[in-house]
Amino acid sequence: MIKNLLKEYSSLIENRINELFPEVESGYSAVSDAARYSLLLGGKRIRPAITLLFCELCGGKTEDALDFAVALEMIHTYSLIHDDLPCMDDDDMRRGNPSCHKKFGEDIALLAGDTLLTQAFYVASVASVSPEIKVKAAKVLSESAGLHGMIGGQVLDLSFEKIRPDAEKLTDMYMRKTAALLICAAKLGIIAAGKDTEQNLKSAEIFGFNLGLAFQVIDDILDCTADEKLLGKPVGSDEKNQKTTCVTLYGIEKSREIAADMTDKAISALKNFGGDTEKLENLTEFLLSRNY
Ligand code: IPE
Ligand code: IPE
Ligand code: MG
Ligand code: MG
Ligand code: MG
Repeated sequence: MIKNLLKEYSSLIENRINELFPEVESGYSAVSDAARYSLLLGGKRIRPAITLLFCELCGGKTEDALDFAVALEMIHTYSLIHDDLPCMDDDDMRRGNPSCHKKFGEDIALLAGDTLLTQAFYVASVASVSPEIKVKAAKVLSESAGLHGMIGGQVLDLSFEKIRPDAEKLTDMYMRKTAALLICAAKLGIIAAGKDTEQNLKSAEIFGFNLGLAFQVIDDILDCTADEKLLGKPVGSDEKNQKTTCVTLYGIEKSREIAADMTDKAISALKNFGGDTEKLENLTEFLLSRNY
């Protein structure tokens, strides 16, 4: 059962988060309390699970990929804290709880995001793998989360409140804001296992691109259709912000077809690795049918 596997990986990740990013007692503990609140109060842990699964697929040891997986989950969580701020999507719930700024105020939430982003690179730098592997991981993390990756995608996403993109522009935005971190998740596992051949990295890109697009299309569908309690974040956020999404361009049924087609493509890309890809295939399928 993929849900049990995700639970297993979640506790592995959360235990390591507690070791690498513990509570602090100081005049500035408010910011680490806020960061830990957002980091530990839930989340599917999809990205770190993908890192660990790719490491396993490439014959690596879980402990070699674990700190990179934690670093990526910290970066993802920072992106969610900032995404919810009033100046961005202005959403009050996240992971089933009040958003970071609702609980701690906008100033501390902003700094909690900054803290997670910065400490993520510290966490990656102390991983118990060779310096060469750590430099490769830092490069992939920064490229994926940075200007041309997630941040660029978030800027395009905001601009789509004002302009109506065509399918090509929408795909480019999804690629950056969502797929970039999923490609990163796969690559970090491959790098940790020392199997970062050109062919493996290319296959990871095809897998992550297709999974990322399917993932964001489903997120956009759930934004219209989900049960808010299950989803753990507000339903109707995109409509409130008048965002153009796959749903506004194509409707829900066609969007589901697109997500299913991209899920198939992601699963095909896994075949390039040889080895036992069953867990990754199940995870990819599960993400298509999820209701949260
Ligand atoms: C939410 O990501 C942001 C998107 C890219 C759609 P997740 O759906 O993975 O959020 P958590 O980590 O489970 O809370
Ligand atoms: C945000 O997309 C993706 C990020 C890079 C954080 P959304 O704005 O749709 O994510 P949710 O729905 O708030 O999780
Ligand atoms: Mg957003
Ligand atoms: Mg949002
Ligand atoms: Mg959304």
